Amino acid sequence: MYAIQIDCLTKRYPHKTKNAVDQLSFSVHQGEFFGLLGPNGAGKSTTLNLISQLIHKDSGRILIHGIDTDTDAFHTKRSLGIVPQEFNFPIFDKVEDIILNQGGYYGFTHRELKNHCQYLLERLDLWKQRHDQARTLSGGMKRRLMVARALIHQPQILILDEPTAGVDVELRRGMWEFLKEINQQGITIILTSHYLEEVELLCQRIGMIDGGRLIKQHSVRDFIELAEQQVFIIELAEPFDNHINLTDLNVISIDSQTLSFTKKQGQTLESFFVALYEAGAKISSVKPENNRLESLFIAITNKGAKNV
Ligand SMILES: Nc1ncnc2c1ncn2[C@@H]1O[C@H](COP(=O)(O)OP(=O)(O)OP(=O)(O)O)[C@@H](O)[C@H]1O
Ligand SMILES: [Mg+2]
Repeated sequence: MYAIQIDCLTKRYPHKTKNAVDQLSFSVHQGEFFGLLGPNGAGKSTTLNLISQLIHKDSGRILIHGIDTDTDAFHTKRSLGIVPQEFNFPIFDKVEDIILNQGGYYGFTHRELKNHCQYLLERLDLWKQRHDQARTLSGGMKRRLMVARALIHQPQILILDEPTAGVDVELRRGMWEFLKEINQQGITIILTSHYLEEVELLCQRIGMIDGGRLIKQHSVRDFIELAEQQVFIIELAEPFDNHINLTDLNVISIDSQTLSFTKKQGQTLESFFVALYEAGAKISSVKPENNRLESLFIAITNKGAKNV
């Protein structure tokens, strides 16, 4: 059973020439922790906002636990807890009221809501601030407030758009522990993130998008392996001629005198140098590139998936 199924989802914002989300299809299993990754502007937030019904799609289908969001809006609302990328609570309201007001729509008794609210505030380190106006909270506290608010009606699916942006390192770890815990209790989680460490620690599967399209889907283990491949930038003494077969060598040309070489597991640098030498290339310098998440995006999205 899928928690979320997306089928050919498309969205174009007014006055834009390109689709922000373009024929996007993917599914998230029930109980899964799924990461949606991609560079700035890839369409991650748009995708999550479409699932969350915060914006309207142009075409395609979204199913939540097999039910079309177009046919049962309340089921969608009841099933989803949403933490958007931008803060969107009334800043003059008190922390506790923001959470309780959200919970009020779902038929819980006041006592049930109060108890659950206390649990969430304590668990997310906001109990001391419960009577403070939301505008007085730090950025990290505001983000945690949105997580507490998203969970007050005990949804089965949590949608998190960069949940730890602006949260300091220590509190970020606390947030990770909390998210892991609620995922283990059975809540399906889909998140976007720019932190490789976060994805590595939390997600079971990732989907990578760019230009509103799905570029790749991986188990997180395969993805981390990709991210840990070593990439070297090779400067040549002279512009290389077209006789060097770049694809066979696993090389991408950045310009006529600069190459990028991705060293796969089991491959040696020596064999690569020999092959380049035999092809007639004269190397003037070699330096390693730090190939973590952002450079992996660049490798996949700008230079062709087949080279990664
Ligand atoms: N409200 C809007 N009106 C018009 N265009 C928008 C709007 N929101 C997003 N876009 C455009 O849609 C595209 C996708 O944006 P989106 O916010 O979904 O990207 P993202 O992957 O979440 O990026 P980031 O990592 O920066 O949060 C971008 O080209 C962006 O400029
Ligand atoms: Mg975004």
